[in-house]
Amino acid sequence: MNFDEQVVLITGAGSEKGIGRETARQLSKRGASVVLADIDESGLASAFDEISQYNNGKTMTIKLDVTNKEEVNRSVNKVIDKFGKVDILINNAGISRPTSVLDITEEEWDLVFNINMKGTLFLTQAVLPYMKDANYGRIVNISSVSGKRGGGIFGGSQYSAAKAAVTGFSKAIAREVGEFQITCNTVAPGLVGGTNITEGLMTTEKELSIKEGIPLGRIGEVEDVAYSIAFLASEGAGYITGEELDINGGSHID
Ligand SMILES: NC(=O)c1ccc[n+]([C@@H]2O[C@H](COP(=O)([O-])OP(=O)(O)OC[C@H]3O[C@@H](n4cnc5c(N)ncnc54)[C@H](O)[C@@H]3O)[C@@H](O)[C@H]2O)c1
Repeated sequence: MNFDEQVVLITGAGSEKGIGRETARQLSKRGASVVLADIDESGLASAFDEISQYNNGKTMTIKLDVTNKEEVNRSVNKVIDKFGKVDILINNAGISRPTSVLDITEEEWDLVFNINMKGTLFLTQAVLPYMKDANYGRIVNISSVSGKRGGGIFGGSQYSAAKAAVTGFSKAIAREVGEFQITCNTVAPGLVGGTNITEGLMTTEKELSIKEGIPLGRIGEVEDVAYSIAFLASEGAGYITGEELDINGGSHID
C-alpha cells in the first residue's frame, strides 16, 4: 500500500496507545500527509512530534471537538488551505461508557451518541464537497463488534446503539456518494488491548475469560485494526464500499 501524495484526516489521533495514532503511524510511514485531529491538546503535541518524523513533516494537528459543527467546518477549511484536498477521512474519535441500561442518563446517552455518531456526520459533511469535486475519496468509520453482537465487554447499550448507527450511516453514505468514486466503509474491531477506552477496566481474570472466546487466542492490538483501516483507505480498495470489516480474531463471526 502506498499513500504518496494522499492527504488523510484522522479524528481521535491524539491518544498515544489508540487506534487513531497507530493508523497515523501506518499511513505516514507509507507516504501520506497526515492531519491529526483530537480534543486532547497534549495528545496532539506528542502525536505531531512522532508522526512528523515518519513523513518528513507533512503533518498537521488540529484541536477540535467532533461534536461541534462549526469547529469541524473551520478545521476542514484549514486542511484545505494547507494541503488543498482531503483524500481520506478516518472517523475514529469515540468514547464508551460501561453503564447498565437502567443507569444511563439522557446526558450520557447524548454524549456517547454525539461523539461516536454525530461527529462522524459532521466530518463527513465537511469533507464530502471536496471529495466530490475531486471525484475521489475514501471514508473509513470505526464501528465496533458491540454494535453487532449486542453489548460490548466494556461498553453499554448506548455504545452498541451508537456504533450500530455508525454502520447504518456508512452504508447509506456508500450508496449516496458512489457515483463520485467515493467509498465509505466501516471496520468493526473486537476488544483491542491497551487503549484508553479499556484502560483500568481489565483484570487478569477477565482477560483470560475473554481470550477463551477468541478462536485466534489473543486480544486484538491497535496494529491489527490500523492495517485494515489502511487497506480500506487505499486506492486499491476502490471497488469496496458499504462494507464492514470485522477485526475480532473470530470472537464474533456472522
Ligand atoms: N479499544 C477497543 O477495544 C475498541 C473496540 C472497538 C471499537 N473501538 C473504537 O475505536 C475508536 C478509537 O478508540 P481507542 O480504543 O483508540 O480509544 P482512545 O480513547 O485511545 O482514543 C480515542 C480518541 O478520541 C479522542 N476524542 C474523544 N472525544 C473526542 C471529541 N469530542 N472530539 C475529538 N476527539 C475526541 C480522545 O481524545 C482519544 O484521543 C473509537 O471509535 C472506539 O469506539 C475501540
